[in-house]
Amino acid sequence: MLRIFYNSLLVLALLPALYAQSDSSLLTNVTQAFSQAQVVPDVLPSFAPTALANITFPVSTTNQAVNVTAGALLTEPQTANEPAFSLISSSTDQVANQTFVLALVDPDAPTPQNTSLSQFLHFLGGDFRVNASTDDPTRLVNQSAALMDYFPPTPPEGSPPHRYVLVVYSQPNDFADTARSFVNASTPRNHFNLTTFATSVKLSNPMAGNFFFVGPKNSTASTTTAASATPGASTATAPAATDTTDASDGAPTTTNGGHTNTCAVVGMAGGLAIITLVMVRELCNF
Ligand SMILES: *[C@@H]1O[C@H](CO)[C@@H](O)[C@H](O)[C@H]1NC(C)=O
Ligand SMILES: *[C@@H]1O[C@H](CO)[C@@H](O)[C@H](O)[C@H]1NC(C)=O
Ligand SMILES: *[C@@H]1O[C@H](CO)[C@@H](O)[C@H](O)[C@H]1NC(C)=O
Ligand SMILES: *[C@@H]1O[C@H](CO)[C@@H](O)[C@H](O)[C@H]1NC(C)=O
Ligand SMILES: *[C@@H]1O[C@H](CO)[C@@H](O)[C@H](O)[C@H]1NC(C)=O
Ligand SMILES: *[C@@H]1O[C@H](CO)[C@@H](O)[C@H](O)[C@H]1NC(C)=O
Ligand SMILES: *[C@@H]1O[C@H](CO)[C@@H](O)[C@H](O)[C@H]1NC(C)=O
Ligand SMILES: *[C@@H]1O[C@H](CO)[C@@H](O)[C@H](O)[C@H]1NC(C)=O
Ligand SMILES: *[C@@H]1O[C@H](CO)[C@@H](O)[C@H](O)[C@H]1NC(C)=O
Ligand SMILES: *[C@@H]1O[C@H](CO)[C@@H](O)[C@H](O)[C@H]1NC(C)=O
Repeated sequence: MLRIFYNSLLVLALLPALYAQSDSSLLTNVTQAFSQAQVVPDVLPSFAPTALANITFPVSTTNQAVNVTAGALLTEPQTANEPAFSLISSSTDQVANQTFVLALVDPDAPTPQNTSLSQFLHFLGGDFRVNASTDDPTRLVNQSAALMDYFPPTPPEGSPPHRYVLVVYSQPNDFADTARSFVNASTPRNHFNLTTFATSVKLSNPMAGNFFFVGPKNSTASTTTAASATPGASTATAPAATDTTDASDGAPTTTNGGHTNTCAVVGMAGGLAIITLVMVRELCNF
């Protein structure tokens, strides 16, 4: 009787350690992936996460749900809808009763070789919390509207895959007031600088992060091809340095130039040149 009791105690004592070990191995992997894909230094000067940030793209008519592992290569259809975010920490104090700021940026716009429009801000929101008394105690739920709503990846034709980088920060008390003077309805998505923003609104070092790649839609591939190609891709991992090599996996760069020109022509043809250009940029470039 006593022996069983002590054995149970031993198992109970070991459990947190086992979880902590797998978490720390995952943290190491994410940290390494950030360096290998040059997310450090391209997006962040340094990255030493203390929690895991998971991204799950929802089930849609053509796709099953996708859980992102750092550096996974995904498709446009898989990433078309706003994902769910979760925060996994081995320390309750680190997440309980805390609020978080989430940013998702593309440092490769319009292409990894020509980043003149980067960063492109795909999502920015504050007041995210986890709730221990729900079914999924790691799920991050927003308590206020996003500063910049989710915009799905649309890298231009001919571009190698872009990196899409999620960064999670602990939220300062005055964030809601200060952030709006830097990102609001009139702020363009391109030419965003996460480091500058973070400094301006006094965000401290990121506590978690994750990233994935998305390549352009294949102009020759039909939508049915894209859809049937997706299930296997949920576990696919991109070669870490894809984005830094030259356009080896891309179509000729002239295709990209033609695409951009088409967008510009459409924009100029519109009566409301400025508004149209902004909208067309959003639709065409990334
Ligand atoms: C971390 O990455 C290594 C090498 O890619 C892999 O073998 C290992 O399973 C990963 N660890 C976890 C916890 O996913
Ligand atoms: C994604 O993760 C969730 C929670 O960890 C799990 O329930 C689900 O089965 C996973 N989905 C896929 C497609 O791996
Ligand atoms: C978070 O993502 C990692 C890597 O894909 C996965 O191994 C882990 O099970 C996920 N955790 C949760 C709680 O979904
Ligand atoms: C979170 O806040 C609630 C209500 O204020 C409190 O009861 C609880 O102890 C807090 N939890 C932690 C881990 O601080
Ligand atoms: C870089 O991209 C911008 C925006 O699409 C474009 O105007 C510019 O010509 C490109 N520069 C080069 C060197 O291709
Ligand atoms: C957490 O979820 C429970 C159950 O849905 C809800 O009653 C409670 O108000 C939530 N707490 C917070 C801080 O959002
Ligand atoms: C959370 O974000 C969603 C999607 O942007 C939005 O519709 C919802 O209103 C937000 N929740 C709150 C409480 O503001
Ligand atoms: C909105 O953001 C822009 C920067 O994109 C800033 O110049 C402007 O002052 C902000 N507007 C307000 C009302 O804070
Ligand atoms: C963002 O701004 C910082 C200085 O505030 C600069 O060092 C960095 O190169 C900029 N990042 C990008 C991607 O332009
Ligand atoms: C694009 O189409 C070519 C030719 O059909 C094919 O080899 C390639 O795998 C496709 N790429 C993607 C991302 O669908």
